[in-house]
Amino acid sequence: MNTRFPENFLWGGATAANQIEGAWLEDGKGVSTSDMQPKGIFGEVTPRTVGDFNIKDIAIDFYHRYAEDIALFAELGFTVLRISIAWTRIFPNGDDKEPNEAGLAFYDRVFDEMARYNIRPMVTLSHYEMPFSLVENYNGWSDRRLIAFFERYAKTVFTRYKDKVKLWLTFNEINMSLHAPFTGVGLPEDSSKQAIYQAIHHQLVASARAVKACHEIIPDAQIGNMLLGGLMYPLTCRPEDVLETERQKQEWLFFGDVQSRGYYPSYMERFFEERNVVLDVSEEDKQDLKHTVDFISFSYYMTGCVTSDEELNEKARGNILSMVKNPHLTASEWGWQIDPVGMRILLNMLYDRYQKPLFIVENGLGAKDVVDESGNINDVYRIQYLNDHLIQVYEAIRDGVEIMGYTSWGPIDMVSASLADISKRYGFIYVDRDNNGNGTLARTRKKSFYWYQDVIRSHGESLK
Ligand code: BG6
Repeated sequence: MNTRFPENFLWGGATAANQIEGAWLEDGKGVSTSDMQPKGIFGEVTPRTVGDFNIKDIAIDFYHRYAEDIALFAELGFTVLRISIAWTRIFPNGDDKEPNEAGLAFYDRVFDEMARYNIRPMVTLSHYEMPFSLVENYNGWSDRRLIAFFERYAKTVFTRYKDKVKLWLTFNEINMSLHAPFTGVGLPEDSSKQAIYQAIHHQLVASARAVKACHEIIPDAQIGNMLLGGLMYPLTCRPEDVLETERQKQEWLFFGDVQSRGYYPSYMERFFEERNVVLDVSEEDKQDLKHTVDFISFSYYMTGCVTSDEELNEKARGNILSMVKNPHLTASEWGWQIDPVGMRILLNMLYDRYQKPLFIVENGLGAKDVVDESGNINDVYRIQYLNDHLIQVYEAIRDGVEIMGYTSWGPIDMVSASLADISKRYGFIYVDRDNNGNGTLARTRKKSFYWYQDVIRSHGESLK
């Protein structure tokens, strides 16, 4: 089969500031919500002082090693690299009047380094973190004033980097706030639905205001949303299972609907009513929401099944969404069910629903790699996973889906988001560091490095 992707298809990798940068208090950076979660996004929020161990404090030290890492990405042939800006490097407390110049200068250096190799930056404004001071002093996104703070932050970075960055994303996996409210909207895990949906509303308005500002400040840029692609199948063909699957689908697609259509979908009225959720939505909010995204981006790792039968409801261990196991699929070491065909299904579904270009901004396999006695990492399982998913991306392109590009998750090993576990590796590049912080932080090319290099060089023709 000829699997040559379109010439303008962007190839690369995706990262997040709090999982790679380290330097958690350097050059004026403020404390973020991520700094308070040493066990990852589902772990306890732990009050901490300097000196407590948190693997993310150094992470993989991208803050100091970015030049070396970007050179490796260039060697891979990347044409795009997704990073996020840590809000706390720019506005350490979130509500500061003036930005922190040292933080702004850091990302200038990173973008300049990418430009040397013609790698296009794709920048997430908020990836699973926010200034912790906004949680302490404003109760996170439950406070409407955060919309303006976020808007100021977004406008600051748009203005500063307008000549360097033409691809932007607002909030990473915005739909995950339902499952991890502290990480998503800065609220306690046991918050009421009312509190969580009001905070989500504020975040949706902030996202739309960022879209508006981006269009005004950088007219030739494109800005997208970012969804956790939670594809689900009915466990059986019982109509009740199918209906329940549709209902659960709406629960996460609602975010994409608002961000791409510019208003709340009608099905949410009943949803809110049945949960006693009454949202405070102003006229101004409604106008703001009309600023819709240019493209839809999403992550895709796994799928699961849905049943209306409680007894069958044996939960799969999942990435944020807990779903029932699919007997037709195998799973990763962390129980994430591997489903390449689901990638094609999801691409078709999202394109059909939104009729906007799609960007796959996360996809990959977390695995425990072994360094053999010669120092090689023979990660054939990762090659298989990525190969099989990319074949399905190609199939979707043939189905007529407009896809801008693909950034695999974690092109270099980094701290995992859910568990803060560094042994869960995704990279083409191995980083010598363990969960206790031991290791030299040296970078080594894995077998998958050369495989992905071939894929990019051949525009996908080398896929099998
Ligand atoms: C996505 C996140 O949910 O999944 C990333 O956007 C995260 O930040 C990725 O790293 C993989 O999850 P994990 O927990 O294996 O790192």
